[in-house]
Amino acid sequence: MNKYDIIHKAYKEGYAIPQFNIVNVEYARYILEECENQKSPVILGVSEKVAKHLGGFNVVKKMIEGLIIDLNVMVPVILHLDHAKTKELCEQAINAGFDSVMIDYSSHTLEENISVTKSLVQENPNIIIECEVGSIGKNGNEGIIYSNLEDIIRIKKETNAQLIAPAFGTVHGVYKGTPVLNYELLKQIKKNIDTPLVMHGGSGLNEENFKESIRNGIAKININTELKHAWTKSLRKYLEQNQNETDPVFIIESTSQEIKKVVSELINIFGSRNKA
Ligand code: 13P
Repeated sequence: MNKYDIIHKAYKEGYAIPQFNIVNVEYARYILEECENQKSPVILGVSEKVAKHLGGFNVVKKMIEGLIIDLNVMVPVILHLDHAKTKELCEQAINAGFDSVMIDYSSHTLEENISVTKSLVQENPNIIIECEVGSIGKNGNEGIIYSNLEDIIRIKKETNAQLIAPAFGTVHGVYKGTPVLNYELLKQIKKNIDTPLVMHGGSGLNEENFKESIRNGIAKININTELKHAWTKSLRKYLEQNQNETDPVFIIESTSQEIKKVVSELINIFGSRNKA
C-alpha cells in the first residue's frame, strides 16, 4: 500500500491516523515502540525548528530509518514536514527522503496558496502534499480565521492536494475555555470534495471532539503540545526526585512511560489501533 493510501483508507473506513510531532531520537523511539505495540500506522511530524535542532532533514530521515530497522518496526511510518513556510523547505525535506510535506501558505492570498500548492503537487507525484486554508489559531483561541467552504473547494479542484487542513476552530497549543468547533463546515467540505482532512491542534480536545471530527472527514490528527507537556512533566518529576542523578540515559528514559501513555490513549480514541 502506498503511503497516501494509508490515510485514504482511514478516511474511507472512519478512523484517523495520528501525527505525533517529534523532538529527538528518544521521543521518536517511544512513539514508534508504542505504535508498534498497538499496531497503529503513524505519521511522525517534524517542524523546521526541530529539523534544525537535530542537524537537518537528512539527520531526521536517517534517524527514523535507523529506528525502523533496529526496532523492527512493521507498522507503516510516514515522515512528514509540518508547517513549512516556503516551497524550498518542502523541497529540501523531499530531497532528504520525507514522504509528506505541509506547505503552509495560509497567511498568503488564496491565489498564492493555490499556486505554490499546485506546483508542489505537480512536481512531486509520489509525495503527500498538505495545505492549509483559513488560519488555525494558536495559544488559546488567538487568530482563528475559519476556512471559507468555497476556498476549500477551489484549492482542491485547482491543486488536487492530497490533504487539506481546514481552520474549523482548533488551535495549536493550549485552549482557553471550551473550543468551538465548526462541524457543519466539515460536513459541507465532505459533501463537496472527497479528500481526507487534517485536524491541527489536537492537544486538549476531548473524545467527542475527536470522534465527531472523524465522522465528518478528519483522517489525520496532529498532536504536539500534549506530548511536550507529558515529557517535561515527567522529566521535572524525575529530576526533583533524583537530585543526584547525572546520567542522561536514566534522566531521559524517565519520560518514556508518559509519552507512551499519551500515544496509546489517543490511538484508542482515533480508532487506528490494529489498522496497520
Ligand atoms: P498541538 O500542539 O496543539 O497538539 O498541535 C499540533 C499541530 O497541529 C502540529 O501541526
